[in-house]
Formats: sequence, C-alpha cells, structure tokens
Amino acid sequence: MTQPDTTASPTDPPSADSLAQNSARPGAPAADTRASETSAIDSTRPHPARRYNYWLGGKDNFAADRDSGDEVTKVFPHVAVAARENRAFLQRVVTHLVRDLGITQFLDIGTGLPTADNTHEIAQRIHPAARIVYVDNDPLVLVHARALLTGHPDGQTVYVDADLRNAAALLQDSQLRATVRWDEPVGLLLIAVLHFLTDADEPRRQIRALIEAMPAGSYVALSHATSDFFDPDTTAMLAAMAASGAHGPYRARTREEVEALVAGLELVEPGIVPVSQWRPDGPDDQVIPPEQTGCYGLLARIR
Ligand SMILES: C[S@@+](CC[C@H](N)C(=O)[O-])C[C@H]1O[C@@H](n2cnc3c(N)ncnc32)[C@H](O)[C@@H]1O
Repeated sequence: MTQPDTTASPTDPPSADSLAQNSARPGAPAADTRASETSAIDSTRPHPARRYNYWLGGKDNFAADRDSGDEVTKVFPHVAVAARENRAFLQRVVTHLVRDLGITQFLDIGTGLPTADNTHEIAQRIHPAARIVYVDNDPLVLVHARALLTGHPDGQTVYVDADLRNAAALLQDSQLRATVRWDEPVGLLLIAVLHFLTDADEPRRQIRALIEAMPAGSYVALSHATSDFFDPDTTAMLAAMAASGAHGPYRARTREEVEALVAGLELVEPGIVPVSQWRPDGPDDQVIPPEQTGCYGLLARIR
C-alpha cells in the first residue's frame, strides 16, 4: 500500500530540470492537455494542494502555504478537522461506490498530494482491478503523484496533468481516453475542488461537460466548501479573504448553489448534507457538527 510521503518534503521547490525529467517518464501523458508541466512550481504563493497538505499534517508545503493556512485557521479554527472530515467523506463515498454500487473505474479530478488512503488504495483494496485516472493542475502534485500513486498490479492508476477550468480539453487527454472504458460506468470524483473555480470559470458548464461524457450508470461524488454553517462574522471574514486574492481563488457556495451544480441528476440518499453526515460509519455521538466541516457532500447518479 502506498504510504504518505514523509521523506520528500520540499524545503526547496523541485527545479525546472526535475520537472522536465519527470515529464519524460514512461507513461507521461501526451502533450495535449497539460496544465502545469510547463509552469514551474511557485513557492512564493499559497496553493490549495499544499495548504491542504499542511492542514492534514503533511510536510509537502512551503512557508507561503503554511502562512495562508494559519491565516485561514484564525478565522475558521476547525479547518484541520474540516480537511480530515473531507478525506473521510472521500473514503466512505469511494467505498460505497465500489462495494455497493459496483463502480470499478474512477475519474478523480483535484487529486491532491498523496496522503493516506488515496482513491486507488480504497478502490483496489475492494476490487484490485479497479482503474483510476487522477487529474490535477498543480506541478508539485504531478511530481509526487507519478512517483507514489503506483497502485495494484491488477488495476491501473494513471495521472493526467490538466485543468478542471477546461473540462472539454481535459476529456480529450489521450491517456485518460485510453484508460477509461467508455462502455462501463465511471465514478466521477470532484472532492474539495469546485470551490477553487470562481463563477467566471463556469463550474456548472465544466460539470455538464464531464457528465455528458460519462457512460450510462455513472455517478458523481462531490464535496464543496460552504459558509452556510458559519455565523455572519466568520462568513464575512472568509469572503473578505477570498476577495483579497492573497490566498488564491476561492468561492464558497450555498446549498442552493451546490444543488444547481448537479441539477437534473438523481441524488443518492441522504442527498446534500454536511460531509460528516454523509453515511457516517462511526457512532452517532461522534459525528462532527456541520459548523466544524464547512463543507457539503453529495453523491448523484448521472443517468
Ligand atoms: C483541497 S485539495 C483536495 C484533494 C482531494 N480531492 C481530497 O479531497 O482530499 C484540492 C485539489 O484540487 C486541485 N485543483 C485546484 N484547482 C484545480 C483546477 N482548476 N484543475 C485541476 N485541479 C485543481 C489542487 O491542486 C488540489 O490538489
């Protein structure tokens, strides 16, 4: 089983040379949709994958990510709990998809830096031949993912460097197209990634493009940051931080806005709920309250 990377902490960013070497590895995607391979890692600005890694207790982050993470923590002190709850939602929803709904291939967009229990590990533990296509636009995720997300020999785990803000191009990636079996249902995962798309990025249009490409019987699971559970002061402070631009793009959405993203799809029980309340598998009295998760989760059947 792949373990979290605790040794390769980037106290210095990987050089452009190391990125170039990485891109020459066997299995690297064709140069048709690459989002980040040509852009060097910018360690001076916070990035969502590395800040999330910081909140999860990882070491794959830079000072700018930690500073931004600490600023957010001052406003939302439960953010590390929220990150863990989001991971737990990912694990439960993937388990449900494989074990109970028979899904054996996944398109996981917004992979994040490898940590414990990544999508391929959860899926291949139940179904070793499961196939997973990971997609992210962060050059550091690219470097780590190719090295660590190796997967079960009976299955397939591939990594695609592409951007959710252009789903149509993402879907044209040659490696993605070769890995997905287009006559079998797919588990489309959009876990904690859509709130990095502003309204100008047209998240609904991107989701529609993905959904329209999915084979019959597919599902989409998503989690999305919200301020619905916060008091007005916290909501205003988080909105001001987002508006400042200092922490990168961020757009919390209300329940109605999240519902609109999946309009027309058939929601699987329990519908759109705080991530901690989506089919919890522990004792009832240990379910984390919504105001500590700040995040909705849902699973919907595509058709
Ligand atoms: C908060 S992490 C979530 C990781 C994982 N899905 C999870 O829930 O544990 C968000 C991830 O989305 C990626 N991301 C953000 N914007 C993206 C975009 N426009 N296209 C592709 N990936 C994006 C980030 O690089 C990061 O790895």
